[in-house]
Amino acid sequence: MHYRRIFKKGQENVSIYQTAYDMKTDLRKEQSETLNRPHFKYGLGLRIFFLGMDITAGKKNTLPKAKLLEILASVPYREWEIRQYCRLTMKYRNRKKVDWAQEIVGWGRSAQDNEYNHLLVIQEKMKEDGMKDRWFLSPPVVFLVVTFYVILSKIIAWTHIKGGFKFNAAFEDHAEHVYAKMVEDNPQWENEKVTTPVAKAYADVDTWADIFRRISLDERDHRNHSFYYAGMPEHIIKYDGMPSIVD
Ligand SMILES: [Fe+2]
Ligand SMILES: [Fe+2]
Repeated sequence: MHYRRIFKKGQENVSIYQTAYDMKTDLRKEQSETLNRPHFKYGLGLRIFFLGMDITAGKKNTLPKAKLLEILASVPYREWEIRQYCRLTMKYRNRKKVDWAQEIVGWGRSAQDNEYNHLLVIQEKMKEDGMKDRWFLSPPVVFLVVTFYVILSKIIAWTHIKGGFKFNAAFEDHAEHVYAKMVEDNPQWENEKVTTPVAKAYADVDTWADIFRRISLDERDHRNHSFYYAGMPEHIIKYDGMPSIVD
């Protein structure tokens, strides 16, 4: 993936790391592929995690709940990056270890930026629709949930990073399905034009339905990368215009 910073778009200054998307991608076709594909079989840990999310934010997929998902989504990438930076410092004499650690750092950085874009885009949509944040997005609750996830991700990053990649692949598989289903559940998005500069800078598409289809596909990219680094490439789901796993 390639990122560039956009400072001006339309009338407003926009600061966002933009992904260069391949326009060959058929977003509708990929949404139905996601909807028709069963979820990846989640382990007990993730089932408890998603149950906790449902208890906190409700069972229904909503934009406020997606915000919480996005706030958490960047955490593992950040923890892997921190761990790999420590290794880069300690193991700089070992070229093989340096190459691998740099690869993880590069991927982790681009994935974090991409997750953060998702959060900004959801914020714009909620603002446009006059939607308010729910109680679980209040700073003390977010602090508690994020702290829990940081500790969990840190332990996994330092003890069993490949297990962390697999755990994240399942988390991203869940996110991909959530967005594909949200587009199906919100048919009005098909007629809602994207005008906000932040969303336009994220992906230059016409409707909000396509914005969320694009987010769903970004989650598939994260899922694919996670399976690749977990040593499970057989689970990678390919599509036209897909970015290469290793740049
Ligand atoms: Fe995301
Ligand atoms: Fe993601």
